[in-house]
Amino acid sequence: MFADILGVLQTILAEARGQGTAWLLLGLVLTRVWLRASPRESETSTRFQFVLMLLALHLLLLPATGLSTTFGAGVARDLRLTGSAAGAIAGVCLAGLLVFRLLLPRLRIAIPRIVQDIVVAVICVVAVFGTASRAGLDLSGIVATGAVLTGVIGLALQDLLGNVFGGLGLQLDHTIRVGDWIRVQEVTGRVVELRWRSTSIETRSWETVIIPNSVLTRSQVTVLGRRSGEARRWRRQLTFNVDFRFAPSQVIDSVLKAVRAQPIDNVASEPQPDCVLLELGDSSARYAVRYWLTDLAHDVPTDSVVQTRIYYALRRAEIPLSMPAHAVFLTQDSPERQQDKREADHDRRVFALSRIGLFRDLSEVERAELAAGLHYAPFARGEVLTRQGADAHHLYVICSGTVSVRAGAAHMEHEIAQLASGEFFGEMSLLTGAPRSATVVALTEVECYRLDAEAFRRLLEQRADMAEKVAGALAERRTGLLANRDKLSDGRALGDITQRDLLDKIRAFFSLS
Ligand code: CMP
Repeated sequence: MFADILGVLQTILAEARGQGTAWLLLGLVLTRVWLRASPRESETSTRFQFVLMLLALHLLLLPATGLSTTFGAGVARDLRLTGSAAGAIAGVCLAGLLVFRLLLPRLRIAIPRIVQDIVVAVICVVAVFGTASRAGLDLSGIVATGAVLTGVIGLALQDLLGNVFGGLGLQLDHTIRVGDWIRVQEVTGRVVELRWRSTSIETRSWETVIIPNSVLTRSQVTVLGRRSGEARRWRRQLTFNVDFRFAPSQVIDSVLKAVRAQPIDNVASEPQPDCVLLELGDSSARYAVRYWLTDLAHDVPTDSVVQTRIYYALRRAEIPLSMPAHAVFLTQDSPERQQDKREADHDRRVFALSRIGLFRDLSEVERAELAAGLHYAPFARGEVLTRQGADAHHLYVICSGTVSVRAGAAHMEHEIAQLASGEFFGEMSLLTGAPRSATVVALTEVECYRLDAEAFRRLLEQRADMAEKVAGALAERRTGLLANRDKLSDGRALGDITQRDLLDKIRAFFSLS
């Protein structure tokens, strides 16, 4: 009895030796250790589970084969063949995992998944055939009938094969890569996975569209933003209409200044955004701003920022967007109505002035006079209102919103103050003739009125106390700039100037007594 058990065990061990079970287990342990140390990848884990199943079958069949051999059962050969084939496939898959998922990525060699799968599949077939012939099984019959079978299966699986070969072609010639943005028929999205049968695309609306590879090879596929030898950028075109009363050069200049002044997130700096006259239509001229988007996921939000810039630029230049030609105007634009409009606008400016601390003490008449020299100037968030070093032509009063005052070397500016509704800026250069001492950027949407130098000069002539007031603010702000001087690396000499000196400077500059 004991001798029988020993005999069975010896047969099982001999089977295991003959089928290379120890090597398979060693390979399994190595792959497992490496898998634990690598980032989790679902496809690799699935493949590993498949190998585990095959090895389990292989190990189960070992004692069954041993018993059948010992007791001379007729199935011993079939069991051995099945176990060896399972072991051979498991071994090839393990080797495939080690080579394609561990070794080659470390050597920075990228081989398309589909090619990896084909190589592994072919070696599996060869290994199974080798195992069978070693077991003395003649497979030539299978090969002969295989040709007929292949024909039959080929016909039945025409679609599947079309997809598989489509996928193979796409991956081999790199037509489409993971991460590309593509448009196929009605679908636009980012390629997230290229598989044997299909390609997965994630759209901007958080949908995943699975496109059969045969559709991709048969349809027109547009790869967005790709141009050979260039970084990924996608041109966007935003149109707007303006009345014929405004010269194209004036419209284009105003818009260009606004869209180029300050970088916009996801808008390429090269090529720069441009603005062109597209068409002289029936009732208005059609313009387009074209810009190059760098992150294709943010198309609509970036369009929105660019369009906001266009809108504010046109409002600052007092260029209205044109209404559609079929609009029916029921109000007659009589001289009285125009006068009413002017008065309402004037009242708005006077009201805005009354809220600005600097002008609060002015009389009604003075305020009304000053209001005539104001220009409405709204800005979108992120726009630059004045730039450090620029020539000054205006004083700004803020009606709503917040701005950041920044100073420092080019591209290294930092905030030295924030100004909000009711405050003013731009007085330093306007009063002394010096270039702008800081850059002022809109932190929110900002509504300002611009006061030109001439209107301001007239006010100072009438109100000596006003010059003193502004000189006070100016001296205080200069102190703020000075306090930040050590942080400013552009080496600008600000000098210690007193309020008195400033007042004299202002008076001299405006030729005031
Ligand atoms: P100006 O030099 O004409 O243009 C930039 C403006 O930023 C400047 O006038 C001031 O109005 C404003 N500014 C400069 N320094 C300060 C500061 N320390 N605090 C508040 N505003 C300032």
